[in-house]
Amino acid sequence: MTVQTLSVDIPCAGKYPIHIGKGALELLPSVLEGASSCAVVTNHSLARLYGEALAEKLGAAMISVPDGEQYKTLQTVSTLYTQFIDVGLDRRSVVIALGGGVIGDMAGFAAATYLRGVRFVQVPTSLLAMVDASVGSKVGVDIPQGKNLIGAFKDPLAVIIDPSVLATLPDVEWRCGVAEVIKKGLIRDPQLLESGLYQRAQPDGGELAEGFIRRAVQIKVDVVTADPFEENIRAYLNLGHTFGHALENVSEYRVRHGEGVGIGLIAAARLSAKVGLCAPSLAHQVEQLVQSVGLPTRLGHYDIEAIYAAMGTDKKRQGKSVRFVLLRQAGDPVLRADIPAETVIAVLDGLRG
Ligand SMILES: NC(=O)c1ccc[n+]([C@@H]2O[C@H](COP(=O)([O-])OP(=O)(O)OC[C@H]3O[C@@H](n4cnc5c(N)ncnc54)[C@H](O)[C@@H]3O)[C@@H](O)[C@H]2O)c1
Ligand SMILES: [Zn+2]
Repeated sequence: MTVQTLSVDIPCAGKYPIHIGKGALELLPSVLEGASSCAVVTNHSLARLYGEALAEKLGAAMISVPDGEQYKTLQTVSTLYTQFIDVGLDRRSVVIALGGGVIGDMAGFAAATYLRGVRFVQVPTSLLAMVDASVGSKVGVDIPQGKNLIGAFKDPLAVIIDPSVLATLPDVEWRCGVAEVIKKGLIRDPQLLESGLYQRAQPDGGELAEGFIRRAVQIKVDVVTADPFEENIRAYLNLGHTFGHALENVSEYRVRHGEGVGIGLIAAARLSAKVGLCAPSLAHQVEQLVQSVGLPTRLGHYDIEAIYAAMGTDKKRQGKSVRFVLLRQAGDPVLRADIPAETVIAVLDGLRG
């Protein structure tokens, strides 16, 4: 077992380990030591694949919810509270969030609010959740007005990233995770883009995957450690997300998060070039990267005005203006809240089809 441990360590706030490597799941019993009881929270598909066996091994209760972003809602959280009570979770219990970002966000939010907060462990099973959603302590749910508009900061007890589970991850979900890796390269580590590591890696949880997962997680750790509550540089992690979240929302979540991020990265780079912040060649490079992993590069048939309107309710807005993360070059992001609506709409228009 070659598990390596990174650590989020924020003075006056939280500290928790991130265990990464094949076999990391074996560490769960020691992480849970001292808990009065535990519940594995997952979705129906992952319950069959991993959840039931894990709950049995840990002597934990098993709770599952329907699979999909459309269920990342307060209604589902409410069913979780009921089941937490039914299985007898108390203040010394631990919730184990086993799944992709949807489960991590939602089970984490339920844990943050049940009995004013019980402990929880993140066990991400999708590439996207491993490299992004499980680290950084943001948990929450969607409401009809927009994504992640209800939420909390809640540190997990630990994050356990065991790439073995990637063996069952569908290809399309692998690609979605790569979108968040490209994002990290664009804001912080241009070499990660050049290395092409993530393109060669097979979705089998092999050593190659482990290497770039660790590197992507380290970037997130560095950023959230420097700015845990998104007062400044953490906002850079939202590159592509103002566009992406709006598209997800308008598509009623038929567009996956990672797909929205991929298209959003292209839109953000094009917008950066349009306002003269970066060379047009960067926008081409971003588009090629997104295309090379097989992610969609166009908005499809969704209504441009509706997408623009949805950006107005995205959390990234400040006051009345929409705030964008733009790029001066790869590795050099900047926040801008002064972009005229016509300019944004022109960029969206160029991505039709
Ligand atoms: N909290 C944060 O900081 C943060 C950051 C990024 C994204 N997010 C959130 O994460 C969510 C997206 O996460 P996601 O892309 O993981 O989506 P997801 O949770 O819907 O998972 C995608 C699909 O893959 C399946 N799956 C997951 N692991 C699997 C495995 N090992 N084998 C087989 N199938 C598997 C899931 O059942 C699901 O059908 C969005 O809601 C987004 O807002 C949160
Ligand atoms: Zn994201």
